[in-house]
Amino acid sequence: MRIVILENPEQVGRAAADVVIKAATRPGFRLGVATGSSPEPLYAELRAAHQRGDFTLQGATAWALDEYVGVPEDHPERYRNVLRRELVGPDATGLREESLFTPDGLADDPALAAHEHEQGLSQGVHLQILGIGSDGHIGFNEPSGSLFTPTRVNVLLEQTRQDNARFFNDDISQVPALCITQGTETIMRAEQIVLVATGSSKAKAVAGMIEGPVSVVCPASVLQQHRNVTAVVDEAAAAELQLTDYYRQVEAAGLEDPIWL
Ligand code: GLP
Repeated sequence: MRIVILENPEQVGRAAADVVIKAATRPGFRLGVATGSSPEPLYAELRAAHQRGDFTLQGATAWALDEYVGVPEDHPERYRNVLRRELVGPDATGLREESLFTPDGLADDPALAAHEHEQGLSQGVHLQILGIGSDGHIGFNEPSGSLFTPTRVNVLLEQTRQDNARFFNDDISQVPALCITQGTETIMRAEQIVLVATGSSKAKAVAGMIEGPVSVVCPASVLQQHRNVTAVVDEAAAAELQLTDYYRQVEAAGLEDPIWL
């Protein structure tokens, strides 16, 4: 795993956007997209790069990591609506509405909707953008029994519902109990992964992901077993890492492929 430690969320967004912009030049680019507040600076950078003419998702497809079950179609926090605002259209990144694939959280049969999303991801994306939950979740893969799961319906942990209540009028009762999420197996199929984490509330999860044992207790730790992950974190999120000096030395050495370390 390549570990990049920067001063603040804006720098994190810029560095992660560089990874995306570089990867996006390939034809038929398939991008995995996350929601939550962590990737917002990254998406702002992508929109700015699109406006400058340096980047476009016009010919790309984008695949959501997850979606709430049961959030109304016009709700601003429905993940499809969040991603549409962040990425779709010529004023954003050039992504076409019909090229944005999100699990259907309003389907009569959410398990079937999850299965359909999994099938769309059978080849894996070229690049997956990830955030991380304070409990170490990626997508909505909460700490539980397996690190080898497909896209499926999942139950949200109380902590995650509390964390996300800020998007639902600070009222946890409005946060759905269920979601559809790409599984860890699905995420691991991505050719390349860039994960962004900022703020002290992520410090424990980031330490578990990078230096902890690979364990269901911290689902993001499965990324230690992927061959091309870049974790871009700010100082606050890096605060509980043991080997920060070494990670900085590796970055300073400017090796062509520090992800192999
Ligand atoms: C959310 C999303 C994740 C996200 C994480 C962190 O619940 N399902 O994809 O990475 O939790 O969110 P945030 O970036 O807002 O802290």
